[in-house]
Amino acid sequence: MTAAVGAPALALVGMPGCGKSTVGRHLARQLGRTFVDSDHEIEVAIGGPIRAYFEQHGEAAFRDVEQQTIAALCARGSISPAGMVLATGGGAVLREANRQALRASSRVIYLRSTPEELFRRLRHDTQRPLLQVRDPLKRLRELFRERDPLYRAAAHYTIETGRPSVPTLVNMILMQLELAGLVDPMQVPATVGQAAPP
Ligand code: S3P
Repeated sequence: MTAAVGAPALALVGMPGCGKSTVGRHLARQLGRTFVDSDHEIEVAIGGPIRAYFEQHGEAAFRDVEQQTIAALCARGSISPAGMVLATGGGAVLREANRQALRASSRVIYLRSTPEELFRRLRHDTQRPLLQVRDPLKRLRELFRERDPLYRAAAHYTIETGRPSVPTLVNMILMQLELAGLVDPMQVPATVGQAAPP
């Protein structure tokens, strides 16, 4: 594996709808890093939407493309001097190879949300193939039961998302990274940890 140079990449893992892409984009902007979304890279590689690829080729074929994409992005992240912020797909942690590649190349952050919270956000979703079922909440509960231990195994940090705003979540992450000496305190807003004004 390529030796890491410069700042380690930051990778976000978590269930579909937990906010990986939105939080990742804000975090990257705050830190002056490049934002990369592995699902977007996969859609470029397969030349179309993930949902259609799932329907045509099945989940196992999708997981193969996902694994190749994550390996390539982790290798790219390891040589990027500024360090990137990588948002992964909700199922990226299912394969041991992905968990290892993410942990070796990045500081991995798990955005942890309950199935009920995810259902509230995703109840009208039509794009996520695994949620196009009669009872999406039941499906989310099953996925969470299976995956929560895998997200925890992959992650260096866990952030409970609850219902805070995106800026609050970003600040919670920045605070963790500052405590770990991974970001310059100047990049962490001074208001972190303070109550919002009434
Ligand atoms: C998946 C989540 C999706 C996408 C694909 C499979 C999953 O990404 O990778 O539909 O297995 O949970 P998001 O987590 O961004 O929805």
